[in-house]
Amino acid sequence: MAKTATAVKTNGHTAYGGPSAAETLKWREKTCFPMMSYYKEPMLVARGSMQYVWDDKGRKYLDAFAGVVTVSVGHCHPLVVERAQKQMEKLWHTTTLYLYPELPKAAEHLLKMVKPANPALDAVFFTNSGTEATELATVLCKAYTGRSEFIGLRHSFHGRTMMSMTLTGQSTWRHSLPYLPGVNLAPANYTYRRPSSMTPEQYAEWCADEVKNIIDHATSGKIAGFIGEPIAGNGGCIVPEPSYFPRVYKHVKDAGGLYITDEVQCGVGRTGDDFLGIQKWGVKPDIVDMAKGLGNGFPIGAVVTTREVADSLKGRLHFNTFGGNPVASAVVDAVLEVIETEKLAHNSKVVGDYLIAKLKKMAAKDERIGDVRGMGLMLGVELVKDAKTKAPDAQLAAEVMEAMRVEGVLIGKGAQAGNVLRIKPPLCFTKENADQLVDALEKSLKKLLD
Ligand SMILES: Cc1ncc(COP(=O)(O)O)c(C=O)c1O
Repeated sequence: MAKTATAVKTNGHTAYGGPSAAETLKWREKTCFPMMSYYKEPMLVARGSMQYVWDDKGRKYLDAFAGVVTVSVGHCHPLVVERAQKQMEKLWHTTTLYLYPELPKAAEHLLKMVKPANPALDAVFFTNSGTEATELATVLCKAYTGRSEFIGLRHSFHGRTMMSMTLTGQSTWRHSLPYLPGVNLAPANYTYRRPSSMTPEQYAEWCADEVKNIIDHATSGKIAGFIGEPIAGNGGCIVPEPSYFPRVYKHVKDAGGLYITDEVQCGVGRTGDDFLGIQKWGVKPDIVDMAKGLGNGFPIGAVVTTREVADSLKGRLHFNTFGGNPVASAVVDAVLEVIETEKLAHNSKVVGDYLIAKLKKMAAKDERIGDVRGMGLMLGVELVKDAKTKAPDAQLAAEVMEAMRVEGVLIGKGAQAGNVLRIKPPLCFTKENADQLVDALEKSLKKLLD
């Protein structure tokens, strides 16, 4: 067991007095499954407040990755902490086998937020995670349509169960052969990597029509459903052309399928102004799959759908122990309240627009930045070896992450090739934070490339 130092109180906070990062790593390796960690010397996060975290040595960092796109309203947001604590003092846990008002209160609040995407959405089921939400969304499609074939997208990520892994379009996240039958993956509308002979619009049309081609040639012609992220998050912040998802939607509907929007990363205001990412594309989803920002880090997910689709589970036992328990429900309600009262979806748009403009300016001067893309505070910076070949530079991405840490800024990385920097901070991020991030990125690239 690792040593524990004495905790000292500074600035109203108890200074971290626990085992060091190195000791904790050893301890974890000895006691837990093998786990991936960021950085050559993994970082210990000792404390968080809004868009900042502190390490074991008391150093403060700007957190621009938000615990993998999860801390939405800010680390330890005071209102969310207060509501969770109050609920914990009253009742931590019971299940939906009993009644408690916190559950319908949170569901009603969530329905109010998702209605602009599709006014017909009127039933919520809370899960424990995004993976479980994906799984339930597909179960609903099967129950409602009586069919079992699905279309997903390449470069996507939907979770870690067999079905969600089968729907995931990156080999790095698929390792559990044999996958489930009946799932086909269509090309993502990855404009930056389109054939040079096509305009972005032509490529979007071609990609969307591949969904129809797959339905025509690789399924029975009728499908249970389609799943897509409005912007592929883990896959490298891939933003489709505006014409793409409406055309996909038509093909899915023509084949009798339900449309699932995976909002685990894009939801809760992250893409700016709209509560759900799918609102950017004007498609009315049948099922919404959520998690991450919905709980601001508290483990909760949700599936939202129409009453008619939800009713397809009537008469079949459907239950989980923790999903939407009283504390989780109180947290969801508080997070949504903060999103509204602090106008965080709008802040995401304003600060995101400011930040992407600065990043694009940088990219124009540096051919190693192949592409800058995203919406709101869901941004990606794709690093390449040179502008002509666009060969992905995963090593540079890893080195930039390390260098940014030294500058006091945490970012993430993703994409099948591991070469896209992911900038997805808590939605309370400010323009001053954006300036600090861009300065740190500029310094890091200069240090590595000059
Ligand atoms: C788009 C998307 N869907 C689903 C999931 C799975 O969510 P969870 O890790 O909560 O199971 C993730 C996780 O990163 C995700 O990014």
